[in-house]
Amino acid sequence: MIAAYAPATVSNVACGFDVLGFALDEPGDIVGAALAEAPGAVIAGIHGDHGRLSWEPRRNTAAMAAQALLDRLGTRQGVALHVHKGLPLASGVGSSGASAVAAVVAVNELLGRPASREVLLACAMEGERAGCGAPHPDNVAPALYGGFVLARPADPPDIVRLPVPAGLACAVLHPHLEVETGAARALLGDTVPLGAAVQQWGNLGALVAALFTGDLALLSRSLDDVIVEPKRAGLVPGLAAVKAAAREAGALGCSLSGSGPSIFALAADAAVAARVGEAMRVAYAQAGGGVDADLWISPVGTSGARVVAGLAEEA
Ligand code: HSE
Repeated sequence: MIAAYAPATVSNVACGFDVLGFALDEPGDIVGAALAEAPGAVIAGIHGDHGRLSWEPRRNTAAMAAQALLDRLGTRQGVALHVHKGLPLASGVGSSGASAVAAVVAVNELLGRPASREVLLACAMEGERAGCGAPHPDNVAPALYGGFVLARPADPPDIVRLPVPAGLACAVLHPHLEVETGAARALLGDTVPLGAAVQQWGNLGALVAALFTGDLALLSRSLDDVIVEPKRAGLVPGLAAVKAAAREAGALGCSLSGSGPSIFALAADAAVAARVGEAMRVAYAQAGGGVDADLWISPVGTSGARVVAGLAEEA
């Protein structure tokens, strides 16, 4: 049994819908992979999902990604996967993407590392296609590579790893709601007013420049989504109050994480992130309609997915 860990990710990062994301250090998913006799990828166990994820390989993001890798490699080797969910489902922190990435990293290691990271990314994106119908790279790319990753749409996407300013940290509030990514995407329509587009691409360009220069004031001004978040805000009661509380407590910015319901805030360091997270928690307790929430504080995680020890007994 070879196991790999892939972290939670914050995609979109306010102004970078479908093209920008960053990784946390924790929490994350672990997938163990073992050789199996019958060809193809199968699910041999799922833990931590309260029985909700499908074991059917064509409906499981980890198995779909692993199968895509086997197909790319042209092998009839069989692999059995044990999925350990550390991430809640439909939570907006890249849960399906983390399982897909951990699966391809584990299977690649099991087979002697025949595939490049570019190939692993393409295969993990096939897992995302199984998850929500759209193979968007903005969760799987940072889960695989770590740090901030810009994925310029193309086939294959241009993957641009961006610098992480020293100390940059994140608070993520996870309301105990579920938002299906497909449903959240269905709210968006397919046209954007030109003025909003100008604002958004200005924000995204400035955000990228701010990461390169370490200009946190510019980063803070850039963390604003004028196109997508307004259409999804109704999915997360209390969002406006949480955003206001985060900024008030010193966050550089605060927005929906991915398609929600999680809400992330970036902060200059871990101490500020902890203070911001507490303010978000308090605001959500008042404005969130009585829904419980988890709070995670993490540095922006620069390691990405990695092989880990510790699942051997369950093989
Ligand atoms: N960029 C995607 C979206 C991420 O916002 O729909 C989903 O996790």
